[in-house]
Amino acid sequence: MLGEEAARESVIVALDCDKQIALELADRLRGKARWVKVGMTLFYAEGPSIVREMHDRGFKVFLDLKIHDIPFQVRGAARSASLSGADILSIHGLGSSAMIAQAREGVEEAAAKRDGDRTRLGAISVLTSMDQGSLSEVGIELPVKDEVARLAKLSFDAGSDGIVCSPQEAAQMRKLLGPEALLVTPGVRPVGSAVGDQKRVATPAAAIAAGASKIVVGRPI
Ligand code: C5P
Repeated sequence: MLGEEAARESVIVALDCDKQIALELADRLRGKARWVKVGMTLFYAEGPSIVREMHDRGFKVFLDLKIHDIPFQVRGAARSASLSGADILSIHGLGSSAMIAQAREGVEEAAAKRDGDRTRLGAISVLTSMDQGSLSEVGIELPVKDEVARLAKLSFDAGSDGIVCSPQEAAQMRKLLGPEALLVTPGVRPVGSAVGDQKRVATPAAAIAAGASKIVVGRPI
């Protein structure tokens, strides 16, 4: 079991909803959670101001934009996202080492201009909604855990601070990337809660025991 303080630092609450509900949820979470996740649903509706509003309420923000584009564009996107206040930003490992290196340049450039620590980069390995069948559908025949490991190593070596993977791969990834790597795991489901479109899931306790630095919980909350 995690202590209260460690739990506050480890849980990221996904605000996959409209602004009004996000603000209500944030007010209810104050003092109980320290991290929220702003993903595409909320960000595309509200833009960078929602990140600032969450900071003003005392939260740290995982900006889950899953950036994937040519390296030049990704450098600019990472710089802009960092300047908007993202504490963690997601990019796609599939974008290549060149793309990830440019994302790192972008957040380094922003760090020189913004208050606080540099935005940390979490590279998406294989989405937790994908299984062997959906990987094969897009032309990848490696076992899921091998594909996760390949993208994790590539991303980490190219300059990401860690990866986003399922709790089912967390132990293997902790071993591969070492104790300092940021390991963010969505696909977390308390016993008995609906799985929905997620495929590679585990309980919050199992994810933390496997070495996750942070777990993302959305619909169960
Ligand atoms: O509602 P649920 O707990 O399934 O939400 C998980 C969150 O984590 C979603 O906001 C989703 O976008 C995000 N996510 C994911 N798989 C990844 C990366 C992020 O499910 N690989």
